[in-house]
Amino acid sequence: MKEKMKKAFQVFEGGLFSDVEKADVGDSYQKLGEQGVALMGWADPFTPDFSLPKHVLDKTIDALRSPLSAHYTAPVGNDALKELIAERSRTFHHLHVDPRRNVIITPGSDSALFFAMFPFIEKGDEVMIPSPSYPNNFTNVKMMQGTIVPIPLHAEDGYQLNIEEFEKRVTPKTKMVVLTHPNNPTTTVFNRKSLLDLSNFIQKHDLILVCDQAFEDFTFEHEMITPASLPGMFERTITVCSVSKGMGLSGYRVGYIIANDEIMDVMYGCAVSVIGATNTIAQVAVMEAFKDPSFMERFHKSYDVRRHAAYEILNQVPNVSVQLPQSGFLCWVDVSQLGNSSDICAYLIQEARVALNDGVNYGVGGEGHLRIVLGVYEEDAKVIDALHRMADALKKYSSIK
Ligand SMILES: Cc1ncc(COP(=O)(O)O)c(C=O)c1O
Repeated sequence: MKEKMKKAFQVFEGGLFSDVEKADVGDSYQKLGEQGVALMGWADPFTPDFSLPKHVLDKTIDALRSPLSAHYTAPVGNDALKELIAERSRTFHHLHVDPRRNVIITPGSDSALFFAMFPFIEKGDEVMIPSPSYPNNFTNVKMMQGTIVPIPLHAEDGYQLNIEEFEKRVTPKTKMVVLTHPNNPTTTVFNRKSLLDLSNFIQKHDLILVCDQAFEDFTFEHEMITPASLPGMFERTITVCSVSKGMGLSGYRVGYIIANDEIMDVMYGCAVSVIGATNTIAQVAVMEAFKDPSFMERFHKSYDVRRHAAYEILNQVPNVSVQLPQSGFLCWVDVSQLGNSSDICAYLIQEARVALNDGVNYGVGGEGHLRIVLGVYEEDAKVIDALHRMADALKKYSSIK
């Protein structure tokens, strides 16, 4: 049967017939958790601890008891939630969008990213991805039979965009840029210069931008600029957002897309086939989080403590270097002077009882790096303790390898 599939799909393995050492497939990662290993590879706020704010929990229970709970919402999403999103978008993204025309609710932002790219990408289209980047960006292009064109980001530039790297690689087949902003895994918040240069490049070459802003909420001292708000960009940008990271509501599976009328008309037209509808109860409950987002402060404070701790603890290890995370709750660690990142990941499971992500999964520039999810567990001390275990193990690594 497999040979009847598109070649682009035949390459995927879900761990049913072989061991797949990836955090997001198979059950090997969860098994490590059962063995007492600290799981710091899933970008899921405070997992596995209870972290649901009371007002969201109460609304979830109310929604469950209401007659609507067993029924669909419109495929494009709950109108009242769309209004709250448009309101937030006005203040946060500086976008003046019409909730009935420019917003669609999706079951999480992963499906939104697929939906944002799918109408545009045909076999052979070239998609530029500043890398290292969120691995699903590569997977999506592969599934659509497009061609990935990685645009290298450099630590020396603070991982900001260098437009020469784009210009060198643009061809008549280039159709889209997919930007993860702030970036996962590097945490970079792209600055005004990077984004203005990118928007000039995109307009000059008549391209589309898909901008994934799943990590937009906590950008510490850095200004968060939404590229769609820059001159000439709303018409050609699809902005993808989520309640998973900033609000810590990953289990609710709610994301959304903001785009102009022309693009959204197509999305509204095929929404029922592509996404069906997002969970009714989750949409109602998430509205409470938008109405009173003060609970997010707790995440913010905690991530700030953790990023400074990671920066200090890991930079004390000879031959390891870390830039202070600029956003969210990830940490990108350069271990290239110590050795191979896949070997180091395996070693840290045994020696430090910590499971992280190997940088090779994040594309060009990922090799020789580790991604740590600092946002796991409610207690800062648990994370800081794991960081100390990692640092101690890494100090020993050069002598034993
Ligand atoms: C950069 C980025 N975008 C999007 C997503 C998808 O999040 P969700 O589908 O929970 O909204 C993730 C999840 O890890 C992510 O890291």
